[in-house]
Amino acid sequence: MTSPDPSPLPNPAANPNGVLHADLQGAVNLFRFRPERLSVSALEFDSTCSFRVGSKVYEDLQVVDVSGTGLGLQSEAPLDLDEESKVEDVRFRHRGRLVWTGKARVVYPQNGNQLRFGIRFLGAPLSLQEIRFRADFVEQRLGHALERLRSYEDILAPEWRAGVIHLHQLLLEAKALLDSQQSHDTEGRWREPEQSTRLCEAFLERWGPEFRRVTEELDALTGKFDDRQVELGLMFAQGILMQEFRHCEMMRRAYDKPQGYAGDYRIMELGQTDVLEGETLYHRFLHFLSQQFSLGQTIQARAHNAQDAAAEAIALDRPVRILCLASGPGVELRRLIRETPEFKHRVEILLVDQDEDSLRSCLDQLNRACGERGDNPPVEFHCLHFSLRQIIAPKRGAEQELVKTVLSGVDLVYSMGLFDYLLQPLARRTVSSLYNLLNPGGRIFIGNLMRVPDSTWIMEYGVAWHLVYRTEEEMMDLGAGISPAPDSMRVEHDNTGHCLFFDARRGEE
Ligand SMILES: C[S@@+](CC[C@H](N)C(=O)[O-])C[C@H]1O[C@@H](n2cnc3c(N)ncnc32)[C@H](O)[C@@H]1O
Repeated sequence: MTSPDPSPLPNPAANPNGVLHADLQGAVNLFRFRPERLSVSALEFDSTCSFRVGSKVYEDLQVVDVSGTGLGLQSEAPLDLDEESKVEDVRFRHRGRLVWTGKARVVYPQNGNQLRFGIRFLGAPLSLQEIRFRADFVEQRLGHALERLRSYEDILAPEWRAGVIHLHQLLLEAKALLDSQQSHDTEGRWREPEQSTRLCEAFLERWGPEFRRVTEELDALTGKFDDRQVELGLMFAQGILMQEFRHCEMMRRAYDKPQGYAGDYRIMELGQTDVLEGETLYHRFLHFLSQQFSLGQTIQARAHNAQDAAAEAIALDRPVRILCLASGPGVELRRLIRETPEFKHRVEILLVDQDEDSLRSCLDQLNRACGERGDNPPVEFHCLHFSLRQIIAPKRGAEQELVKTVLSGVDLVYSMGLFDYLLQPLARRTVSSLYNLLNPGGRIFIGNLMRVPDSTWIMEYGVAWHLVYRTEEEMMDLGAGISPAPDSMRVEHDNTGHCLFFDARRGEE
C-alpha cells in the first residue's frame, strides 16, 4: 500500500501574484546575454577616441558604439593592430569632454577592408548612464529648455510674463493662507462640505477681484499676439500655472486629456456639484474657483435653460420624446425629474454620447432620481453610444436604421457643450440633421459659450482647454442650412449672458 502524496505546503516565497521563483523562466530563444550598447548615432553627436600602441599614437578615431566595457571604433585607413594588442593612454572623448581614460586591448581587429575594430577596457567600466544623461538630459532636453526660455524672453513682452507670474504668486498666496487655516483648524472642521464652501467663499471674495483683474489684462494683451507669440505664450503660462491648477481635478483633466480629450462629462459633473472635492482646503478652493469664474457660472446656468426647454416639452398634453445630444452627466435632467411635480404622459428621453462611462453614470443618476420620487414616473431612458457623425452621416445598415427608427420623431432635441468643439460648417450641418429629426411643432435648442475675458484666457492659457466660442451672428448662422426654413428661429442667452442658445421651431404642418 502506498501512502498518498502529502498536500503541497504553501510557499512563503511566492510573490503577491502567486508566481514562484522556482517557476520563473529564462529566455525562450537567444539565450546569450549581451550587455547594452549605445550606438553613437543615437547620441546625435560625434565621439572620438585616441590611444597609443607602443610609441605610435592614434588620434581622433571615430567611435561607432559604446558599451560599459569597451568601444567599437573606426579608422579612415587600415591600422596596424593585432588581436590582443595592448592599447595605452586611451582617451574617449564625448562631445569634447574626456569621459574615460585608461588601458585597453584590441578584441576585434580590423579584417581585410573592414576598418571597424573593437577595444575592451582594462579597469573600471564606463557608465552608460552618465553618457545617456549627458546626451539626453544635458544636451537634448536641457538644451531645448534653455532655448525655449530664451525665446520666452525674446518674444513675449515682459509685462505679459509679469502678469502670468503675478497670477502664480496669487495662487501661492492662496495656498499659504489656506494651508495655514487648515493646520490651525485642529478639529478639522474645514472638511465639512458646508464649512469648506463658506471658507472658500470668504477667501474668493477678497482674492478673486485681483485674480480677475490680472487675467483680464492678460487677455487684452494676448489679443494682439501673432501665431508665434500664441504658441510660446501657451507653453509659458501653462508651464507655470499648471503647477498649481494640477491640484484641481477639473483643471487637471482639461490639461492632461486623460481620454485623448478631457473626459468632459466628469468635468461637467465637477463643475455642477455642490460638494467641493480635494484633499486640502486649498485644493477645494481651486475647485471652487473653477465653478465660480464667469464661464464656470455659465456652465451651471445654461443647464437651467435646457431644463426649462425640457420642462416645456413635457408640459405638452401628450407623450413626448426628447433627444439630448452629448448628454454628459445630464445634471439638468436629474433636476427635471426631481422638480417636475407630476408626469402626466409618457416621456421618452434619448441620451446620446460617444463616451460609455458618461452614459453609464448619467443613467445611474437618472434612475436614482426617478426611484427617489416614489411615484414611478412614466419616464423611459434610452442610452445610445453614438457619435455626432453617426447621426449626420450614418452608415448604411444598422446606423441608418437606428437614426430612422429611434432618433427620428422627437419633440425636442437639445445639446450643450458639444457645439463649442465644432467648426461652423460642421455645426451648421449638424443643426440641419438634428432639425430633420423633429416632429412637427418640435424644437431644437443648442447652447454655445461666448468668449469672456476673465475665463477664456485661463481656460486656454492656464489649462489648455480650447473651445469654439460663438457670437450671436454665428449662432443665427447655425440655422442657415435648415430647409425648409423653420417657423421661428432666434438666439437667446442664459442668465449669466455668456451662453447663447440657437432656438428654432418646426411648424405644425
Ligand atoms: C462638455 S460635455 C457636456 C455635457 C452636458 N451636455 C453638459 O452640458 O453638462 C461634452 C459631452 O459631449 C460628448 N461628446 C464629445 N464629442 C462627441 C461626439 N462627437 N458625439 C457625441 N458625443 C460627444 C462628451 O463625451 C461629453 O459627454
